[in-house]
Amino acid sequence: MPLPKAELHLHIEGTLEPELAFELAARNGVTLPYGDTGELGKAYEFEDLQSFLNLYYELMAVLRTEQDFADLANAYLARAAAQGVRHAEIFFDPQAHTKRGVELGTVVEGLWRALGSSEANHGVSTRLIMCFLRDDSAESAMETLRAAEPYLARITGVGLDSAEVGHPPVKFREVYEAAAELGLRRVAHAGEEGPPAYIAEALDVLGVERVDHGLRCMEDPALVERLARERVPLTLCPLSNVRLRTVDTLADHPLPAMLDAGLMCTVNSDDPAYFGGYAGDNFDAVRETLALSEGRLRELARNSFLASFLEDDEELRAR
Ligand code: HPA
Ligand code: ZN
Repeated sequence: MPLPKAELHLHIEGTLEPELAFELAARNGVTLPYGDTGELGKAYEFEDLQSFLNLYYELMAVLRTEQDFADLANAYLARAAAQGVRHAEIFFDPQAHTKRGVELGTVVEGLWRALGSSEANHGVSTRLIMCFLRDDSAESAMETLRAAEPYLARITGVGLDSAEVGHPPVKFREVYEAAAELGLRRVAHAGEEGPPAYIAEALDVLGVERVDHGLRCMEDPALVERLARERVPLTLCPLSNVRLRTVDTLADHPLPAMLDAGLMCTVNSDDPAYFGGYAGDNFDAVRETLALSEGRLRELARNSFLASFLEDDEELRAR
């Protein structure tokens, strides 16, 4: 029995497996610049975040209809459930779709076809978090937030993702203020490739409740002390860090040092179809390679529920 856990850092577009990409390409008459899954497979060698993002955005071309988004989410939920995920807080990138002519309503309603029945079909409760692309303008993010207002019953929070360096959190101050006024929860990627200062800025300027990645906090002892004291959850993604070369090898991952420093860490999969593993695979990898004790693994699983946006009663039922 895999350890029951919540997944808090998961981009639904990053769960698009090569087989499903080709199936949807055929269904929608989209031609991919790869002959077959074997040829596509060779493109999964990444140098950094941007080299991954290039492929991630390219393959999204196959996602066109509500049913495509429903099929994508159902495939993820089935895999996650098999690996012990009881609750998933799922990111999606509306601008990556609207800029291709796919309407926001198609994305949200399509995802909801799967999420709305996920507890019954997969035994996984869900929340949806809408991410702004930080390498697009703040104006575009604000327009996206306004366009999402009819769908807020389906959306729990906002996040910030895509190319980090050169796009500090402060760029989105007004957008996050507007999101807070709408009652949305707030998270942001910070300290994946960007400097530790972006982590503090996400907390102080954007008012985030969790930091996605946050890995580079380890370069700033005063920040580590603050994050530990304030019990700020960090949604770490160990296999992602290896594949995007944020760490040299998994054995070099700072997760054990982060736990020893008292940080509230969680373990997640980020973009599992691209980085070689779902939530349970990430747990298995850190258990084996970083020799984490059973107590540490249980702490990570417990943190995932405590750091989730579940209400207390729902949280107890999920774990
Ligand atoms: N980092 C930033 N943006 C992303 C990622 C990531 O790991 N995955 C999808 N968008
Ligand atoms: Zn991410």
